[in-house]
Amino acid sequence: MAILEAQSIIKQYRQYDTVVTAVNRASLKVEDGEFIAIIGSSGSGKSTFLHVMAGLIRPNYGHVLIRNNDITKMSPDELNRFRGQFMGMVFQKHNLIPQFTALENIMIPTVMLNKDEYHFEEHLKKLITTLKLSDRLNHLPSELSGGQQQRVAIARAMINRPQVLFADEPTGNLDRANADEVLDLLLQTRELIGQTIIMVTHDLSIAEKADRIFRMDNGELRLYRDRDGRYMDIK
Ligand SMILES: Nc1ncnc2c1ncn2[C@@H]1O[C@H](COP(=O)(O)OP(=O)(O)OP(=O)(O)O)[C@@H](O)[C@H]1O
Ligand SMILES: [Mg+2]
Repeated sequence: MAILEAQSIIKQYRQYDTVVTAVNRASLKVEDGEFIAIIGSSGSGKSTFLHVMAGLIRPNYGHVLIRNNDITKMSPDELNRFRGQFMGMVFQKHNLIPQFTALENIMIPTVMLNKDEYHFEEHLKKLITTLKLSDRLNHLPSELSGGQQQRVAIARAMINRPQVLFADEPTGNLDRANADEVLDLLLQTRELIGQTIIMVTHDLSIAEKADRIFRMDNGELRLYRDRDGRYMDIK
């Protein structure tokens, strides 16, 4: 069953009298539990498309269905609640709050949830152990390395056990060894939940670990490598 379906998404940015078509009729159907990577050159529209699918930007045209709920039709309040319940996001710039400790940053998404129904202590422990953050919880972001900050951002995105995790260059500012480690930890963390991942990356060796790879070119999305490892013939 498809957990997410993006249908003919168009997103244009207007600046003065110029219009940039950042996403041009992009469609994507993602199966439950799939790991999708989106590659493409800088400015090709990857972040914009990811933000539309994650409900952070409204498209000019097209629909995004998550478990058959059309998020493009939801009111801002409805969408906020839905996002808090089903979706997690790791941003291109990690967006940690500088005055909050690592632990406080991780806990931000739980503020919106009903604590009587949602018990996160056990999950929090597992996340922190898997992401190797146990001895860094009381540090401020400025006191953490780039890789540690990224792991905090991943823990924050995972704390609500989202069914779909969106990640925008989660390993972007890390060196090879750290990038591989953060991805491994992300995939291990995913096994705690069994969730779907949609990840933007310019790192092909990271993208290769996905079930399918798509490529964004000038706002258009095309399949680049299928589930059986076959590469498509795209110029
Ligand atoms: N808020 C905005 N206002 C105007 N134009 C924007 C805005 N955000 C993005 N754009 C433009 O839309 C296009 C796609 O940008 P986007 O950030 O989606 O690309 P990207 O593929 O994520 O690039 P990168 O790999 O550098 O992160 C670019 O031409 C960019 O300049
Ligand atoms: Mg981007």
